[in-house]
Amino acid sequence: MKLAVPRESEAGEPRVAATPDTVKRFVALGFDVAVEKGAGALSRIPDADFEAAGATLAADAKATLADADVVLKVRRPSTDELGLTKKGALVIASMDPYGHDDAVKAMAEAGIAAFAMEFMPRITRAQSMDVLSSQANLAGYQAVIDASAEYDRAMPMMMTAAGTVPAARVFVMGAGVAGLQAIATARRLGAVVTATDVRPAAKEQVESLGAKFVAVEDDEFKQAETAGGYAKEMSDEYKKKQNELVATHIAKQDIVITTALIPGRPAPKLIDAAMVASMKPGSVIVDLAVERGGNVEGSKPGKIAKSGDVKIIGHLNVPGRIAASASTLYAKNLFAFAETMIDKEAKAIAVNWDDELVKATVLTRDGQVVHPAFAPDTK
Ligand code: NAI
Repeated sequence: MKLAVPRESEAGEPRVAATPDTVKRFVALGFDVAVEKGAGALSRIPDADFEAAGATLAADAKATLADADVVLKVRRPSTDELGLTKKGALVIASMDPYGHDDAVKAMAEAGIAAFAMEFMPRITRAQSMDVLSSQANLAGYQAVIDASAEYDRAMPMMMTAAGTVPAARVFVMGAGVAGLQAIATARRLGAVVTATDVRPAAKEQVESLGAKFVAVEDDEFKQAETAGGYAKEMSDEYKKKQNELVATHIAKQDIVITTALIPGRPAPKLIDAAMVASMKPGSVIVDLAVERGGNVEGSKPGKIAKSGDVKIIGHLNVPGRIAASASTLYAKNLFAFAETMIDKEAKAIAVNWDDELVKATVLTRDGQVVHPAFAPDTK
């Protein structure tokens, strides 16, 4: 069995899909592991560490992918990589398939079995494979670090002989995995933290982290959670009431971090230009939803935009800004999933195509697009 870990080919992707620790584990399962030279460099993993863990270093993508039975990646394979991957190989990555039907079709045509890690069900058994959580958690942390670096004042309250510096006021919009970590991080830095969400379950979680919950808590709010634990699109009437509340609140904040997402839909617009303009000079907004359309009017993907004297941070691939940590967790997520496809006695690949985790994540197989969200006959 050969397992391949190519260097990520997409610009701006510093993460890597394996670490020396996971390589060691794959070798113990019976794999020959090939890691492309330099694959870990931007995650601060030297080639020598992969080699010491039992991997063979391959000079380029071609040598890495040749004859591989399993391919681990951060991003969906490129056309070039597909051309180098053998038919029937299991390719496990964050496939970002929505809106990329052609890319999904290309993976089917290449004959690979493509697994989208972001479709992993959020059930107890799959918690260790949840890339959305492992990466969002780090993004929430990094958002506060990025905001504090752009903020020209101190975060904690400081009482000194020369006077008192007030604590920064931080407002977190969207209290899912990223938002909760942003709250915890801002609290650790000494900020006064408030947060909002449309899911009632978030209130208790926000409060348990020592932040104050701010939201219109009417009847609609009390039912605003799907069975899967995700947010619903709210009515226009609710949005209006919530907007008014948020508008007065934002005017008093120093830093706002937005993380709001609704699965399968563009990110909800939460902050308009008037709200941005109401903030004090030197205030900072971080729009973590910028890749999905953004929560903030005026946020620009990959840029720090200025609106008056307010900075709006729109960094792309925020987990990649903390790549060494992100790769460690991501690689572990992939190992936990790949391990379920191995017969440990026979040291052979044995995919149970009826397993719920496999069924939820497999996009393409045997030349076909098989995932219900993308298969041509169900659209
Ligand atoms: P997400 O990334 O889809 O969305 C982020 C947050 O934005 C969510 O909390 C959502 O309610 C909120 N949001 C959406 N529209 C909003 C609006 N208009 N205003 C304010 N906030 C808005 O969510 P994420 O982080 O993936 O988590 C979703 C849920 O899944 C949470 O309940 C989380 O606790 C749960 N979860 C469960 C796991 C498990 O059981 N294994 C693992 C991870 C998360």
